[in-house]
Amino acid sequence: MFIHCSKKEEFILKKIGTAASEAEMPAFLIGGFVRDKIIGRPTKDLDIVCVGDGISLAHKVANRFSPAPQVAFFKNFGTAQIKFEDLEIEFVGTRKESYRSDSRNPEVEPGSIEDDQNRRDFTINALAISLNKDNYGDLIDPFNGLYDIEAKIIRTPLEPEKTFSDDPLRMMRAIRFATQLGFQIEEKTFKAIKDNKERIRIVSQERITDELNKIMVSKKPSIGWNLLFTSGLLQIIFPQMVDLAGAEYIDGKGHKDNFYHTLQVIDNISIHTKDLWLRWAALLHDIAKPATKRFEEGHGWTFHGHEVVGARMVPKIFNKLKLPLNDRMRFVQKMVELHLRPIGLTKENITDSAIRRLLFDAGDDIDSLMMLCNADITSKNKTKVKRYLENFELVKQRMQEVEAQDKIRNWQPPITGEIIMETFGLTPGRNVGIIKDAIREAILDGKIGNSYEEAYTFMLQKGEELNLAPVT
Ligand code: CTP
Repeated sequence: MFIHCSKKEEFILKKIGTAASEAEMPAFLIGGFVRDKIIGRPTKDLDIVCVGDGISLAHKVANRFSPAPQVAFFKNFGTAQIKFEDLEIEFVGTRKESYRSDSRNPEVEPGSIEDDQNRRDFTINALAISLNKDNYGDLIDPFNGLYDIEAKIIRTPLEPEKTFSDDPLRMMRAIRFATQLGFQIEEKTFKAIKDNKERIRIVSQERITDELNKIMVSKKPSIGWNLLFTSGLLQIIFPQMVDLAGAEYIDGKGHKDNFYHTLQVIDNISIHTKDLWLRWAALLHDIAKPATKRFEEGHGWTFHGHEVVGARMVPKIFNKLKLPLNDRMRFVQKMVELHLRPIGLTKENITDSAIRRLLFDAGDDIDSLMMLCNADITSKNKTKVKRYLENFELVKQRMQEVEAQDKIRNWQPPITGEIIMETFGLTPGRNVGIIKDAIREAILDGKIGNSYEEAYTFMLQKGEELNLAPVT
């Protein structure tokens, strides 16, 4: 066997080979599994192609096990799938494809193994291994995919123009593989992405976003975002990101390029967390800087309120990108909205109430927020960074002290809306909200203690100010 497989994988591949040989069908292991084994990445999806009917081969293979695993098959596509413990094995007949210009859905007809390798996206994904008895384990590598894996190159088997025009999703895939694997996209291939970028418009948003998410969970997401930008794809799929690029100068005063700053922040945070949503928060934290940018005489460039405007942009962006509109989105919104707060605390005398407020607003997400703020410190000026980080440590320390003392993270004020309604005989409405907020603010500001008694007395005072009398 050309690649190194586990005992379990070899056991299955041999069974497939025997079943195929008995049915007189040439069969091959192909695609991502072969690539990842050569690279040494973990992989669990085996793609099998055979010259003949893939569904029938899957059944023949399943019958060699006892008990026989279920075969899930899709007649229209001619594909079948078997699950064997943690492995997923997909079967399909070798095919030839031709594409129409307005669709990603090919017209498919049976073909040889060469045809099948020809129609694949990249040379590194077109490697096949024979499974039949007489040639078990042999590598079939018509496009020097092995060399490209060693040289870390992404290149199409055919003319890149054709490969990308056939299936424009492959432009995203090229960039995603370059990011995931740390490979370079070969020059001609990259040029073809630039030239064909408009064709990305026929790809569904879900498929595009799948690739973006794969870029986002890579070790260094900036590689992918940078390639999307330089290829021109980003302008089409996510123009708000492009708006971040560039620095404007007035009276010799410039601001930093927020696109490259953002890429650095996403890489910084990726060292510390694998959380996809915290990474999205890093990507979007300054998204409203272009919309809020002003030049103030004598002061320079400002981006007042970009955190609030940015948080408001998050649902629109999630909606457009077909990312989930649920608590994950709300988490990202919250991170964007709060991302300046911890840094703000390094600039003033840190009062307990400012710390308490941040702990209250961030709640359980405080650690994520602190991680984002840390990642946001990207100045080139080393002394400045050092000073920021030191101040930041102080804020963290103070936060620990205040939290130990006040337990504010998951805190609820001692007087609820119900108690307010009962006391003053109110139904739900404005006054209940006013009193509730006032109690919370008073406690957070340290004007009254965090006890039922003090809050109750304060509630009565507040009621009086609003011309409300207790009913009991
Ligand atoms: N393929 C292709 N064009 C596509 C999608 C897939 O040519 N648009 C081919 C490639 O040969 C690929 C194989 O189909 O290796 C399997 O596709 P898929 O499972 O999507 O990708 P993998 O290469 O296995 O990688 P990953 O699982 O990381 O997506």
